[in-house]
Amino acid sequence: MAQLRRIKGFADLLPDDCRVYAHMEQTAREVFTRYGCQEIRVPILEKTELFARSIGDETDIVQKEMYTFADRKGKSLTLRPEATAGVLRAFIEENLDAQGDDAVKLYTCGPMFRYERPQKGRMRQFHQINVEAVGQAAPQLDAEMILMLTMFLRQLGLTALTLEINSLGCPGCRPAYQDALQDFFKGMHKERLCEDCLRRKLTNPLRVLDCKAPGCRELVAGAPVISDFLCPECRAHNDTVLSLLDRAGQDYMLNARLVRGLDYYVRTTFEVSSRDIGAQTAVAGGGRYDGLVKSLGGPDLPGIGFACGMERLALLLGAKQAKPVDFYLAVLDPRGLDPALLLAQTLRRNGLCGETALEVKSVKSHLRRANKLKARYCLLLGEREIETGNVEIKNMLDTTQQTIPFENILAVLTPEEF
Ligand code: HAM
Repeated sequence: MAQLRRIKGFADLLPDDCRVYAHMEQTAREVFTRYGCQEIRVPILEKTELFARSIGDETDIVQKEMYTFADRKGKSLTLRPEATAGVLRAFIEENLDAQGDDAVKLYTCGPMFRYERPQKGRMRQFHQINVEAVGQAAPQLDAEMILMLTMFLRQLGLTALTLEINSLGCPGCRPAYQDALQDFFKGMHKERLCEDCLRRKLTNPLRVLDCKAPGCRELVAGAPVISDFLCPECRAHNDTVLSLLDRAGQDYMLNARLVRGLDYYVRTTFEVSSRDIGAQTAVAGGGRYDGLVKSLGGPDLPGIGFACGMERLALLLGAKQAKPVDFYLAVLDPRGLDPALLLAQTLRRNGLCGETALEVKSVKSHLRRANKLKARYCLLLGEREIETGNVEIKNMLDTTQQTIPFENILAVLTPEEF
């Protein structure tokens, strides 16, 4: 029978990978909790309209990358390409602002889906660690979120990263910038823009700045920059964010062309990248999205958030070794199989970790297994031990060996002993 294979762009996360992913999630949980974040888990499948309305009709994500299909009743559903829209939908639907907190800070981890061309660090199913902070427009929150992100990355041991920051202005000052971009892209550059950007330059010229096509990238290098168009309020907001980062000792670079691939951003946007993981350099990105909650049918609340790409962080982190276990129970006589299983159960009930052999093997192959598990102790149950009610204990670290009565095993193996 033909073997079934996984779908292109979808990966199996094997035990070695899962250890790294669990470590990232655990670290995120620890760091984010220090900032008052709470966990939320939202569905992977949402109504297509949610993403079209929030991410933006003109974005690559909505135009080309969503896994959209009709359910059995013909409703259009989409596998989430990002977490922000779903988290905000839940925030509104579940009235999470009812407590009147300064900002409700929510984090979530899980798979996202984008129909992109797979390559190193770019998958069709990938995982994000995502944070949203809703309810506060103050620039202090922007600085706090950026500092929380960098604390998380530092806690993971990742230091050789670049943080880039920009301000995209607000609905008050951005139109003048969009006009300037439209003027810039007019007529003379027609033949160098890609097909999508020929349309986008009229409908949403900021998207041209985010285009990956070589011709568009070249053109964009000479385009006007948003920093020349910011209104006094956006400028003051940005100045406060940058000054707070300076005072907190946080390095960053200004990047006036950082527009990000989603339409909902206003004011602060940021991205963290690495040069050590190939062409897909962005390991995290985010920004402020005042107006988005309202446009999804909720109260007029500001917000800011970011997401880290776990596949890309995993490339930086490398493999994480399996933890050693406390015991391995080696059975050398068939009569030992049942007592071994019951003894292992008692040891685990007392908090110890380990495995028991489910078949009789030679001492050599049992010791090989104990070594592979990195067991601290290998307990041997052979004919002689079974007849005398003893167990042979081999300390795998110093290779010493002793024979002890069955009922004393727990005392010898309890964690205080280690
Ligand atoms: P994003 O920049 O589209 O932002 O994605 C955030 C991160 O997810 C990227 O920096 C990258 O590390 C990772 N990522 C994105 N696409 C892929 C892919 N195909 N394969 C592997 N990793 C990928 C957002 O998604 C926003 N929702 C972030 C946000 C939250 N903004 C405000 N709140």
